[in-house]
Amino acid sequence: MAFCLLTIIVVTFGLLSSFGSSFDPNPFQDFCVAATDSNTAVFVNGKICKDPKLATADDFFVTGLNVSGNPLPGLGSFVNLVDINRLAGLNTLGISLIRIDFAPYGLIPPHTHPRGTEIIVVLEGTLYVGFLAPDTSNPLKTKSFTKILNKGDVFVFPQGLIHFQYNIGDTNAIVFGALNSQNAGLIVVGSELFGTNPPLVDDVLSKAFQLDKKMVKQLQGLFS
Ligand SMILES: *[C@@H]1O[C@H](CO)[C@@H](O)[C@H](O)[C@H]1NC(C)=O
Repeated sequence: MAFCLLTIIVVTFGLLSSFGSSFDPNPFQDFCVAATDSNTAVFVNGKICKDPKLATADDFFVTGLNVSGNPLPGLGSFVNLVDINRLAGLNTLGISLIRIDFAPYGLIPPHTHPRGTEIIVVLEGTLYVGFLAPDTSNPLKTKSFTKILNKGDVFVFPQGLIHFQYNIGDTNAIVFGALNSQNAGLIVVGSELFGTNPPLVDDVLSKAFQLDKKMVKQLQGLFS
């Protein structure tokens, strides 16, 4: 009997833990508009909050995602991000929004968001997108998950994984997306290592990437 009970307990805990744990915090109140003036701040949960009595509809409102940004030269893409720094009402809500415009063959280079999963939908154009993840059958290898997306197609980039988006069409492309963080963070592969300030010791980069030091200097020049 006791053994039976023990078995049930062990199995139950095993099942529960195999579901994993969620770590995105839930808000402690209906909303928490980020306060710019600490004298009017009351609760603390993420950024300090404005007194709810002083919150207005404009704290939850942003315009401008009806127009394209100018794609950056070189990359041919432009990101219009509505996160906590732009929309104070997002504070503690664990969500943000993005519009990306691509010139023909424009690229969002490989990058990660350390605190957010990103889901996108294509409104215009044709994109080659993907993310990289450790190969579960061989953890020393990396697997790529790529897809060609057309208008109306949806793709999700899991939190923290390196991903990219490339416009493979000779027309402009438009993507909208959402991230489950008010401040998902951004680490761009390449500039992350070659564009640091101050620069990393060149031995580190030349050994890591099997490059001669001249090439390391060249890449550091490119990304800094
Ligand atoms: C975009 O939206 C803004 C704000 O609502 C408006 O002022 C502007 O005229 C719009 N632009 C276009 C091109 O629709």
